Amino acid sequence: MTTALTHRIHSGPLGPGAISDSEFRLFRDLIYEECGISLGVEKRSFLESRLRRRMEDLGFEVPYEYYRMVTNAESRANELPRLLDSLMICETSFFRNRPQFDLLQDVVLPEIVARKEKAGTRMLRVWSAGCSTGQEPYSAVIALLESLPDRDSWMIRVYASDLSFTALERAHAGLYRPDQLKGIEPHCITQYFRQEHEYYVIKESVSKRVIFDYHNLKHDNGLRGLDIVFCRNVMIYFDTEEQRKLVGRFANCLVPGGFLFLGHAESLQGLSTRFAMLHRNKGIAYKLEA
Ligand SMILES: C[S@@+](CC[C@H](N)C(=O)[O-])C[C@H]1O[C@@H](n2cnc3c(N)ncnc32)[C@H](O)[C@@H]1O
Repeated sequence: MTTALTHRIHSGPLGPGAISDSEFRLFRDLIYEECGISLGVEKRSFLESRLRRRMEDLGFEVPYEYYRMVTNAESRANELPRLLDSLMICETSFFRNRPQFDLLQDVVLPEIVARKEKAGTRMLRVWSAGCSTGQEPYSAVIALLESLPDRDSWMIRVYASDLSFTALERAHAGLYRPDQLKGIEPHCITQYFRQEHEYYVIKESVSKRVIFDYHNLKHDNGLRGLDIVFCRNVMIYFDTEEQRKLVGRFANCLVPGGFLFLGHAESLQGLSTRFAMLHRNKGIAYKLEA
């Protein structure tokens, strides 16, 4: 079978690096099974270009041979995460979707603080699921530090996860170009970043509150009792079935009355009835019903 496929690819009408219909289906199904990302036919050239790059790095010419390597029992554990990493779209920015951060600071946080004060605890637990290169969890910490009354008396933990090793390494380094800081208020740049040559580095007062970890959102990571989950601009890559399962897992992670923030093009419509929508100006969040 390999020989026939190899022959067809080398001699057929497909250009170099192009994948056949059956190869597209093989990779599409593998990716969906592994991480829930649903690649429609419109994503075929995207998949081809990312595959081509990965195959070139490893010296493969035939997509099916690379597929066999990725799914082979011995090499799978190493190569599959790398393939997934190469497919991730990690676009992000500080304080992306500012109205959501306004909602967090003006409405969500005061409600959580009041609840915590009543319970006699000053611990805040947040998860940035699909944190990319760190701008979202760092923005969350800055927003909390800027708004918490008597902020030094609070313990803030932001768990930040992604399945892109490349993104996580950059997130951990916390090093940004000046043009990546737009969206942050100037006084916050001064307070939470220090300049190193042409870069800005996130200060320890923020980074010590963030715990980065590799996690594939296709699975439960065991986090429980969270006050807030950010999962923004990740679900758009999943189909409805996977979105529904993911939202179910978020509901299990949150405390009753906890809050979920989704991306501006995402909603819980048709996915869950366990949350109530909260909105102000253009900021939207979902509150888990008690
Ligand atoms: C477009 S970025 C969004 C980053 C950030 N949440 C924001 O809104 O600015 C999507 C991120 O989700 C991550 N991602 C996609 N599928 C994932 C999965 N199954 N498990 C974990 N992370 C995933 C990608 O690696 C990428 O970093």
